[in-house]
Amino acid sequence: MLSNEENPTPIVRLNRVVPFKHARIYAKLEWYNPFGAVKDRVAANLIRDAEEKGRLGPGNKLVEATSGNTGLGLAMMGNALGYPLRTPLSAAIPQEKRTVLRFLGADVDELDDTLCPAPGAPEGAIAKAHATAKQPGYVMLDQYSNEANPDAHFRTTGPEIWRQTEGKITHFIAGLGTCGTITGTGRFLKSKNSGVKVLGVYPEEGHDIPGVRSKRQLGQTKLYFPKEYDGEIEVTDRDAYDLCLRLNREESIVAGPSCAMALVGALKLVPDEPGVIAVVIFADNIFKYASSVCRHFPELCPPPPGSLADGGTPTMAAPSAHERLFDEMVENLKNPYDSVAVSDLAKEIDGAAPAASRPLVIDVRPQDQYADMHVPGAINLPQSDLSKRKTELPADRNAPIVMVCGIGKFSKHTTLFLKSLGYRNVRSLKGGIGEWVRKQQPVEKS
Ligand SMILES: Cc1ncc(COP(=O)(O)O)c(C=O)c1O
Repeated sequence: MLSNEENPTPIVRLNRVVPFKHARIYAKLEWYNPFGAVKDRVAANLIRDAEEKGRLGPGNKLVEATSGNTGLGLAMMGNALGYPLRTPLSAAIPQEKRTVLRFLGADVDELDDTLCPAPGAPEGAIAKAHATAKQPGYVMLDQYSNEANPDAHFRTTGPEIWRQTEGKITHFIAGLGTCGTITGTGRFLKSKNSGVKVLGVYPEEGHDIPGVRSKRQLGQTKLYFPKEYDGEIEVTDRDAYDLCLRLNREESIVAGPSCAMALVGALKLVPDEPGVIAVVIFADNIFKYASSVCRHFPELCPPPPGSLADGGTPTMAAPSAHERLFDEMVENLKNPYDSVAVSDLAKEIDGAAPAASRPLVIDVRPQDQYADMHVPGAINLPQSDLSKRKTELPADRNAPIVMVCGIGKFSKHTTLFLKSLGYRNVRSLKGGIGEWVRKQQPVEKS
């Protein structure tokens, strides 16, 4: 059932979106793996390795922080083998993946973490997974540091590509997440021909491409070995989503956003020369990303009549019961000033704005995430401490306050909390620090 040299995922030549005359660019379609993504290879190898080492066996439960795809593979293999999965993950991961994980039987803990879990964040998904792993019966396979992750690609992805290209591959390109794909496949291909160029593609800071990590986020990953790669390039969300649309419409290939990101990078890094045969990993397909599509092509997702009273971002995915309840609470307040857009907050805190009307910006993320980057002048009152540290809030209940979190969700909760304390002029930053960075606003470190 799992792919291997004899039963590989297909590679197809890309024609219409490739402007080259000589170089041939192939996509390796990883959604042909049984649970829909390149990560099925990793899930299978993590389990095999842990069983062989005696770390995992009957009666154990799995816990793993994931951006979704590893969780989907582990959930399904766990169902088959009798290992229930618990997965702490970011609420920024597409709703489609979170809901399907629950549908498959996984126990999902949603957190206000970044889109890709940050290994150092004490209150992020990875720390939560480590904490759970200390409980009896739980085993964490840790795709972020486990060599069985690249080894999955050394054993399967590399040999498949070598055989499918009859040893003629000259360039291998992958998007960078945990870096298991580039590291393991690259090592195999270079073991066959040290001249094969191994190239990595990563998204811009503050990106909205599930599964991959910005340059800063890559620095936190133990399987990122830049010295083993021959080149790396950054790609913007805009370029990736635009090419994603073209791949689907012009090539009839149902590629997801990270595939298009990798291809944008390949088209910039690979030379258009005779004899060039490049293979790009297409990690998963577009069907899991309806909510991402709605953010990047809002014109494709008109809201149902009357559903956007607060001017929010339309989304095609059905909200969870929790989100519905929360949205109702916000709606019930009937206050159009409950949230503030990035562009408006930027004007309000600009040096030119009168000091008296400048809002106090409160970042409610964990301290380390705040330290890493925050809205200039923001103070940090983590959500978990807020009720203990109420005395640090302004005495004046009319003071203008803006709450900021990672993605604009937890700041809404804290906005309501402050309102319950009597603050009349408190708003939540729409889209959180992620949107602030995407809109290229300045940030401060501390
Ligand atoms: C959609 C998607 N693209 C790309 C990647 C990156 O692969 P890797 O983690 O092997 O670097 C992932 C990993 O989760 C993914 O889910």
